[in-house]
Amino acid sequence: MAAAKIHRTLLEAPLAGWIVIRILEFLEQEVANPTAPLEELNLVVLEAQVAIRRIKGIVGDLTAFSRESKAGEAVVDLRTVVDEAERLAAQRTGHQIGIQSLLPQDLPKVMGNQRHLAQVFLNLLINAADAIDETSRTDGQIWIRAAKKGEAVTIDVDDNGAGLPAPVLKQLFVPFFTTRAPKRTGLGLATSREYLRRAGGDLTATPRPEGGARFTVALRAAP
Ligand SMILES: Nc1ncnc2c1ncn2[C@@H]1O[C@H](COP(=O)(O)OP(=O)(O)O)[C@@H](O)[C@H]1O
Ligand SMILES: [Mg+2]
Repeated sequence: MAAAKIHRTLLEAPLAGWIVIRILEFLEQEVANPTAPLEELNLVVLEAQVAIRRIKGIVGDLTAFSRESKAGEAVVDLRTVVDEAERLAAQRTGHQIGIQSLLPQDLPKVMGNQRHLAQVFLNLLINAADAIDETSRTDGQIWIRAAKKGEAVTIDVDDNGAGLPAPVLKQLFVPFFTTRAPKRTGLGLATSREYLRRAGGDLTATPRPEGGARFTVALRAAP
């Protein structure tokens, strides 16, 4: 369910609840001391039914959303995920780019969907490879470094590619934004961020001072 819809339904729930409470108060008074004609009582009972049905629908939508966002969540070993992404990236880009991954031995496992996380790292590696291709340099390099930061694990994916000029930086996560048409579709970063946010994490980007880009994946450490 889209965030805008959740926001709207969350705003509507208290209003519908308030309507039901006021109607019950009114009916309580009418039982104690009848004044209203029967048709009016019928009408307010009908209104209460509509409001209750609305609340029922909202609660149903929200529980469906929380099930959807937790779908397939498991304890995931980042080493497996990164290995898988590296293997697929080598197949897809079909050429040699040095990838140096530094995942500490004692790195905790993380919470997420293994398939989605592999897709996220694959997207980041292909993007880095594209950005390196753009420079036509021969010493293209990608660095993957992970660290535990409190309850989170962060993984930096750095490259010495073309870098992130301000206008690109601003639109990185906008669906269909791409500087690589027609080869690419501009959905990689938008979907990657969505996957990570569903797992309670995030994806951010910064230009590296020495040139190239840094993408930082944050995930919840497994308990
Ligand atoms: N590592 C990177 N270095 C430089 N630019 C990048 C990098 N990753 C992404 N970008 C920029 O962000 C845009 C959007 O990326 P993405 O959402 O993955 O879509 P796509 O790869 O299909 O273009 C890219 O077209 C590119 O301009
Ligand atoms: Mg991409």
